[in-house]
Amino acid sequence: MNTKKVFKFGNWVPVKMIVAPMLLGIICLMLGVVTNGLFFIPAMLFMAVAVYFATAWHLFSPGGLNIQSRVQDLVVSHISWKGSGKALDIGCGNGPLTIKLALRFPEAEITGVDFWGKNWDYSMLTCLENARLAGVDGRVTFKKASASALPFEDNHFDLVVSNLVFHEVQDVTDKRQSIREALRVLKPGGVFVLQDLFLLKPYYGTSEELVNVIYQWGMKKVNFTRTCDESFIPNLVKLPFMLGTLAIVHGVK
Ligand SMILES: C[S@@+](CC[C@H](N)C(=O)[O-])C[C@H]1O[C@@H](n2cnc3c(N)ncnc32)[C@H](O)[C@@H]1O
Repeated sequence: MNTKKVFKFGNWVPVKMIVAPMLLGIICLMLGVVTNGLFFIPAMLFMAVAVYFATAWHLFSPGGLNIQSRVQDLVVSHISWKGSGKALDIGCGNGPLTIKLALRFPEAEITGVDFWGKNWDYSMLTCLENARLAGVDGRVTFKKASASALPFEDNHFDLVVSNLVFHEVQDVTDKRQSIREALRVLKPGGVFVLQDLFLLKPYYGTSEELVNVIYQWGMKKVNFTRTCDESFIPNLVKLPFMLGTLAIVHGVK
C-alpha cells in the first residue's frame, strides 16, 4: 500500500499537541523579554515539549520511520484466521488497519467502527475515501459507535481487532470494559487480536491479571505479547502513554 501520497491516515500525535506548547513557548519568550528573563525557563520547557511531539509526529509518519503502519502490521501479523466471514476493527480512526485487513483477507467482510470524536482529526468520510483508494470499498463498511457499547449482537464476528483504542475510551470507569465488549461480539471459536497500552497497570493491572480476567470471561485461549520491545520502536517514543507500554492480547473465544 502506498501510504506516502494518496492515503490520509492521519497521525497519532494530534497537531494541537505541537502547536499549543509552541504558542505557549512563544508567549513565555515574549513575556521573558519584558520581565528581564523571568519567563525564559517556562519558554524553554514549552518549546522542548513542542519539539518532542513534532519529532514523534515525524517518526510515526510514512516520511519518518512509518511507525504507525508498522505497529498496525503487528496486529495483522498476530492474526491466525482462515479469512472467510466477518471481521471488526474497533476504533478504526481513518481506517488504516481496516484496509490492511481487507487487503490481507480478500474474502472477508470488514467493518470499522469509531466514535470520531473531536480529539482526533479522523472521520468516516476519510475512511471511505481511503477504502476507495485501496480498492476495497465494496467489502468494507464503516459505522459510528463507541467501543464501550458496540451496535452488534452477541457472537457476530469471526475476527475482532483493535489498535491503540481502549485506553482512550472515556465513557467507561474500567478500561477493561471495552475489551469485554469487543469479546462479546466475537463468535465462539472466533479470533481476537487487540493491541493497546496493556502494560499500563493503573488501567489493566498486571499482564497476568489481565490474562486471567479475560479467561474468566469465557475465552478458550489468551496470549499476552509485549510489542513495545519491537526493535523498530525508538526509545524516544517509549514513554508510558506513547508506545512504551504497548502489548497485544490475542486468542480464541
Ligand atoms: C490512536 S488512535 C488509533 C486509530 C487506529 N486504530 C489506528 O491504528 O490508526 C485512537 C482511536 O480511538 C478512537 N476512540 C477513542 N475513544 C473511542 C470510543 N469510545 N469508541 C470508539 N473509538 C474511540 C479515536 O477516535 C481514534 O480513532
